[in-house]
Amino acid sequence: MEKIVKNLKSYVVVMTGAGISAESGIKTFRDADGLWKNYRIEEVASPIAFARDPELVWEFYLMRRKQALECKPNNGHIALTNLEKAVKQNGGKFLLITQNVDGLHKRAGSENVIEIHGNLIYSRCAKCGEIFEDRNIYQEIPPYHNCKEKGMLRPHIVWFGESLNPEHLEITTNALSECDIFIVIGTSGVVYPAAGFVSIAKKFGKKTVCVNKEEPDNIGYFDEFYKGKAGELLPEILF
Ligand SMILES: NC(=O)c1ccc[n+]([C@@H]2O[C@H](COP(=O)([O-])OP(=O)(O)OC[C@H]3O[C@@H](n4cnc5c(N)ncnc54)[C@H](O)[C@@H]3O)[C@@H](O)[C@H]2O)c1
Ligand SMILES: [Zn+2]
Repeated sequence: MEKIVKNLKSYVVVMTGAGISAESGIKTFRDADGLWKNYRIEEVASPIAFARDPELVWEFYLMRRKQALECKPNNGHIALTNLEKAVKQNGGKFLLITQNVDGLHKRAGSENVIEIHGNLIYSRCAKCGEIFEDRNIYQEIPPYHNCKEKGMLRPHIVWFGESLNPEHLEITTNALSECDIFIVIGTSGVVYPAAGFVSIAKKFGKKTVCVNKEEPDNIGYFDEFYKGKAGELLPEILF
């Protein structure tokens, strides 16, 4: 079968979404029907929700933190780690942009990764702003930071209504303008701004490829579409 990345000397940019972690046992947003514990995800994943009910928001994120820590990277994550190694060894360049917050790409060994929506196993102090790896499954919620201000901790997640880190946006835009190929995997193309990255790549005249179990909403921007499960397809067709 023809491979997606034919030239390992090229600059490859990949973006992943919840679909790549589905085979690790982590539900996608769609599979969960947009609902979690009978709450619409927007209602537990926003600064307004956190201000209103920090216990509920922490309960939701601790459940997801626990689940992420129990899951393992699958063959899709590993195929991307292998692609990064192969590209770097051949003098090419590689960047992985992920919308996932499960941390599985880093655990699979991917190096050049930006987690544009944050990471479940990090917390951030609402007062002093410190960000740190945090595997605690707190019994007493909400937890507080042991800093001078004793600030309330919050999950290090980009919530609905919050902006992406401007540095991440700059890295992404530069990568989309400089790359040779942009590959989007396991995302439904509904959460912006990430869903719009493919149109930026297209505007720069880049080759765009989609690997997904079903047609994403923004299918029109892709030159090639490979339909199937990431964990099965990627090891075969990536490079
Ligand atoms: N694992 C996680 O970290 C996780 C899980 C759920 C939601 N989220 C967050 O929710 C938002 C939802 O957007 P999204 O587009 O990433 O997810 P989404 O749930 O909206 O879409 C997932 C897409 O993946 C496809 N898919 C399902 N299983 C697949 C498989 N095995 N192989 C390939 N494709 C598969 C689905 O058909 C769907 O189009 C994101 O911001 C993300 O951060 C993250
Ligand atoms: Zn603090």
